[in-house]
Amino acid sequence: MARQTPTEPTTATATRSASSQDAIQILIDDHRAVQKLFDAFEKAEENDLDAKTTLVRRACEELTVHAMIEEELLYPAAQEALDEDDRPDVEEAYVEHYLVKVLIEKFTKLKAGDKGFDATFKVMSEMVSHHIEEEESELFPKLRKSGADLDALGAKLMQRKEELEAKIPKDAGDNTMRLH
Ligand SMILES: [Fe+2]
Repeated sequence: MARQTPTEPTTATATRSASSQDAIQILIDDHRAVQKLFDAFEKAEENDLDAKTTLVRRACEELTVHAMIEEELLYPAAQEALDEDDRPDVEEAYVEHYLVKVLIEKFTKLKAGDKGFDATFKVMSEMVSHHIEEEESELFPKLRKSGADLDALGAKLMQRKEELEAKIPKDAGDNTMRLH
């Protein structure tokens, strides 16, 4: 990947502009968005297969992009910024992502109404909720305390997120594999 210097905000050291580029806030917003999809799935009518299909597809897309930006940018930055004692939190996060990706992969074949579709999504939502809680209660506060430049990191996260989201085709079906 060509290393280019994207348009970094020139005021990064000054006041945080509406916190829109703060890396942790960006990721927390992503977490809330995916949790809304989990809640909507819980509330979907048992036989509303269209709704279930759409919700699962959206969740897989969101989670894939989210996992990629964390793995490419956040976790390496955290490994660098955190004390050695806190780095195992990052190692755990990688493993949890791996497990979620195994479940995302299952949705390339599982269709709404198939045996195991609802169960797979339920387990996925439980795993992701656990992961979100750990990040928000352990990793993110430690990273904030570390003094890492979260505005600069946030700008990189947003840029990569937009690139990846632009690659998601809008047609039906699972599209997450095309991101890799
Ligand atoms: Fe994560």
